[in-house]
Amino acid sequence: TAAAQGAASAFAFRELDSTPTDRAEVAEGYNAEVLIRWGDAVLADAPAFAPTTQTAAAQARQFGYNNDYLGYFPVPGAANPSAHGLLCVNHEYTNEELMFPGLGRQDAGGPLGREKAFAGMTKELAAVEMMAHGGSVLEVRRTGERWQVVAGSRYARRITAETPMEITGPAAGHSRLQTSADPTGRRVLGMLNNCAGGRTPWGTWLSCEENINGYFSGRLAEGHAETANYRRMGIPGRWMNWGDYEPRFDLSKEPNEPNRFGWVVEIDPFDPTSTPKKRTALGRFKHEGAAGITSRDGRYVLYSGDDERYDYVYRFVTEGRVSGDRARDMNLLDSGTLSVARYNADGTGDWLPLVFGEGPLIPANGFHSQADVVIEARRASDLLGATRMDRPEDVEANPRTDKVYVMLTNNNRRKADEVNPANPRADNRFGHIVEMLPDGRDHAAPRFTWDILVRCGDPSIATVGSTFNSRTTKDGWFGMPDNCAIDADGRLWVATDGNFPNRTGRNDGVWAMETEGERRGTSKLFFKCPFGAELCGPEFTPDGETFFVALQHPGETDPEDPNAAPATYENPATRWPDFSPDMPPRPAIVAITRKGGGKIGS
Ligand code: FEO
Ligand code: CA
Ligand code: CA
Ligand code: CA
Repeated sequence: TAAAQGAASAFAFRELDSTPTDRAEVAEGYNAEVLIRWGDAVLADAPAFAPTTQTAAAQARQFGYNNDYLGYFPVPGAANPSAHGLLCVNHEYTNEELMFPGLGRQDAGGPLGREKAFAGMTKELAAVEMMAHGGSVLEVRRTGERWQVVAGSRYARRITAETPMEITGPAAGHSRLQTSADPTGRRVLGMLNNCAGGRTPWGTWLSCEENINGYFSGRLAEGHAETANYRRMGIPGRWMNWGDYEPRFDLSKEPNEPNRFGWVVEIDPFDPTSTPKKRTALGRFKHEGAAGITSRDGRYVLYSGDDERYDYVYRFVTEGRVSGDRARDMNLLDSGTLSVARYNADGTGDWLPLVFGEGPLIPANGFHSQADVVIEARRASDLLGATRMDRPEDVEANPRTDKVYVMLTNNNRRKADEVNPANPRADNRFGHIVEMLPDGRDHAAPRFTWDILVRCGDPSIATVGSTFNSRTTKDGWFGMPDNCAIDADGRLWVATDGNFPNRTGRNDGVWAMETEGERRGTSKLFFKCPFGAELCGPEFTPDGETFFVALQHPGETDPEDPNAAPATYENPATRWPDFSPDMPPRPAIVAITRKGGGKIGS
């Protein structure tokens, strides 16, 4: 009976069947329409997409690859702020095996497999990849239930791996950031591997550099001063072979270039001529995202996960207060305090400040200034005794409750003697979600309390140790939480990365997640991706009536599944969204609206 079920669900939609397919599907009663795909025009003079003859010049004007973060900003003066806005999009990385004919799978077989596949790469293809990275600014407009990109918008912008950017904050100009192309250490070309991000109250887009190690190759000279720093970041990763063509990506030729990546980039989306700024005060690591909220006294607080096995959760609190004067607030992110989280066994937690001269962050340990602390934020956090987490991805604060949600995607390397209360499972393949509450509901407070909202994975397999609420159906559970969004009513929506039919019997998607009352820990499947696609960028319009989602790399197969046919341009796992034999699968943004209008999920 309804009474036995407890309080009513916060989500009024009929759950999808989780059976994996080659299509994108949304719950009954909703529209899910493709807004823009890889290769579609962003700038007015973009040529038509021609996948077999793609050029860097064309790609620089077209929508990039692997759309990740989405940030929606109402256009000033819009009659309906939720029907006319700018959509800022990160283009995280490229899958050349799916983008280009004849290349074969590059992620198979470890570094040697990659070297073999690089045989098909050329300087021209690498240039296409560079132009397919970065970001896009789109002007978008809703008419009825349909969204469209405004063609020829004066806001339209492509940011690439070569867009000039300014470096600001404590590391700006430091000798460790100086290169032969930039002796000032203040000017860098491009942003790389921009995963999730954030929006500030003063109307800027924060775009976060994540796996920057993969872009570098070559070796440092024996005994080079950056050896330990780069080892801690996995540099050189050589996931891309750009260093074969561009000396700045080769450590033997330009040893300081990697210190110029791994930052949070702040971009003014309303001015397409503005120079993006790398805000070094927020630290250098593999930033997943940077979601913000205002502290009790009006300072701005950003939470950011470092997506690596055993890495950390960070917080940055600005020194100044948000004033509402845009010109003044524009430089708030240059001064403040970066801290790293320690989760104590008693359910409390501490923010440990990363401040030069305090505790172990002193010259005896190789820290000579705040610049050294932010450049080597990971090593500084190691010394402070931060809690080693299971790959922290998105962190989002709920403005209604002040609870902060941390997506911990997985850590299949954690051993039984390495578990800690906040990361309680060895061989954590399916991840979990940690919930934090700042003391006094003040996001600038030095302490917090925490709890685990859910341990993910199949609840019907006892050894998985999952803790979904028993109301969760066979379709409603998920693994590998990655991104999340909190809607206008304070409800949590979780997006995943890493569900494959052979791992969890489902594809990635969006699950609606109860966080309060008797139903806390119950989740429900709302949207599912086609084979191989990861769900990124979940973003609501302010009225909660549109839900934008970004689907990355449709058509991939599980790189860890020895029985899966390698996904290639010629043989993808799906050809979504075009389903045309002469068109590869394309990463794309989908706009979800309710048939007949109204709030999503209500
Ligand atoms: Fe780019 Fe942590 O996902
Ligand atoms: Ca992510
Ligand atoms: Ca991920
Ligand atoms: Ca991905």
